[in-house]
Amino acid sequence: MKETTLLWLLSVTSLLCCTTNQARLTMIPSFSQLFEDDFVSLSCEEDDSSAGWTVRRTTTRQQMSQCGDGWGKVGGSACNISYMDPLESGVYWCESREGSTSNSITITVTGGAVILQSPVLPVMEGHNVSLRCQTKRPPSKLPAKFFKDDVFIGTEPTGHMTIHHVTKSDEGLYKCHISSHGESPPSWIYVTEKPSVPAVPPTSAAPPSVFTSFQLGFRPVLHLVVFCPYFISTLLMVSLYRHRPTDQSPLNNMTTTLSNQPKQDLTEE
Ligand SMILES: *[C@@H]1O[C@H](CO)[C@@H](O)[C@H](O)[C@H]1NC(C)=O
Repeated sequence: MKETTLLWLLSVTSLLCCTTNQARLTMIPSFSQLFEDDFVSLSCEEDDSSAGWTVRRTTTRQQMSQCGDGWGKVGGSACNISYMDPLESGVYWCESREGSTSNSITITVTGGAVILQSPVLPVMEGHNVSLRCQTKRPPSKLPAKFFKDDVFIGTEPTGHMTIHHVTKSDEGLYKCHISSHGESPPSWIYVTEKPSVPAVPPTSAAPPSVFTSFQLGFRPVLHLVVFCPYFISTLLMVSLYRHRPTDQSPLNNMTTTLSNQPKQDLTEE
């Protein structure tokens, strides 16, 4: 009973510890689609640079490889790729030395003539979304047709569509078409609910994009939460010390070792 409570507290403590270890992957340019040979810069914006965040990716050719491992140029926790190849299309994310992961983004590189410039990061409910249908060289302002989930949603004379005050129902797979040039690949646009409600990841078979407005808006709260593990572990140590039995049962040894861990983390920092 008492041990169960202690173990439960320890689990909660370790969960709280991990939520504070966050990074956010951003990208310049911040579009889901790129032309072959385009430049891209990916950055891990982190709370704790000593956690050793690096950019990783999974493409159709290669699973979970790290920036600098035959691709990209590493600079701190950023990664630049000078000439993107269609085979480098895939899912990109940041990972710390201990294996914590950031949000992931899906990049599509096309060898074709048309891209849809849509936001690579989730859009907050109520914001406007800008969609540009572009040809490679020179960047065009040609008329373009836009599609959502393969349904025609409109023609724009300059290839630029704005979706005003997006809602969850605007989430979907978008593409565009410029006559005599061709069609863009499709890309997902994700909409996150307002911060007051924790966002729910899309339920369809879409690639994971788990970075939510919840994580963005509640960073100050997360910082506060850092104190809790130390507070709880102090309480635990005091309580263990008070009720220290004369015989050393294995379980007591274990809980003592575990409850010491957050303390060690503190000294390391
Ligand atoms: C990556 O690109 C950014 C933006 O162009 C630049 O500021 C940065 O110095 C580059 N880093 C490396 C390691 O090349």
